[in-house]
Amino acid sequence: MNEAKYIWMDGELVPWADAKIHILTHTLHYGNAVFEGTRAYQTDDGLAIFKLDEHCRRLYNSAKIVAIKPNMDFGTVKQAHIDLLRANNFKNNVYLRPLIYLGYGQMGIYHKNVPVNTSIAAWEWGAYLGAEGLEQGIRACTSSITRNPNRSTFGKAKAAGNYLNSQMAKYEAIENGFDEALMLDENGFIAEGTGECIFIVRNGKLISPPNDNSLESITQATVLELAKDLGIEVERRNITRDEIYISDELFLTGTAAEVTPVREFDHRTIGEGKRGLVTEALQKAYFDVVFGRNEKYKHYLTYI
Ligand SMILES: Cc1ncc(COP(=O)(O)O)c(C=O)c1O
Repeated sequence: MNEAKYIWMDGELVPWADAKIHILTHTLHYGNAVFEGTRAYQTDDGLAIFKLDEHCRRLYNSAKIVAIKPNMDFGTVKQAHIDLLRANNFKNNVYLRPLIYLGYGQMGIYHKNVPVNTSIAAWEWGAYLGAEGLEQGIRACTSSITRNPNRSTFGKAKAAGNYLNSQMAKYEAIENGFDEALMLDENGFIAEGTGECIFIVRNGKLISPPNDNSLESITQATVLELAKDLGIEVERRNITRDEIYISDELFLTGTAAEVTPVREFDHRTIGEGKRGLVTEALQKAYFDVVFGRNEKYKHYLTYI
């Protein structure tokens, strides 16, 4: 773990080692909390958070979905991201983890009267699926685990409890020798990765599933915007696992995963077994945006 100096907790900057909570913290037992994964990049003009507003909005929307009433207002939490990065004086790219959780004070499943707490941690973090993965592509498989169904969980919330499913799928994939798992929805269509949305390229067309069974991904939206700029034809429709086998390119998008090519899926080589040309162009365009090299999208950056 790349420890930093401070973690923000309910309005205070607390030294990293002192950022502790009680063992009877409600979330620890029943899994109801909401969080974000947000990145800040070292641009030529200093550290800048990418799409801070969008991430904060999704955080508050997630809280609404799972019936958590945040204890801090939106503006305070948004500003706290900036204050935290300033206080920590990071030298490399940073990952931020805001969390709104149910704290200490009452046990039992009914959660309405449990005190709510908010924290933001930030630390220096490189490529989630490895620097080599970004260039060479990773190996993925279809998970035996179905993505959380819409009938029993709230998949539009980036809620802690939802990630038991992702964690089991990721565990299975890694233990079976893969880097990442793609989960199917209840109808057998590809839903999403354990922490990413998916794209394929077929005959020059970029295809990504609708968000019926995936998080409303901020990176996916960025990539779709960039594809338009590059004149790439885009289609939003369901994809089956066998269509991936015969696709020309497959890549994953997420704040952590950024734009990561997949070179092999279920033991089938995808395309030429390396990062494809469309993936490469979109990956380059994405990094240009987050590193502040594209004037058109500088408004997505919050400079520290
Ligand atoms: C399950 C899941 N799907 C998709 C994504 C991609 O979302 P975003 O691009 O907003 O990070 C994530 C990561 O946050 C995720 O955890």
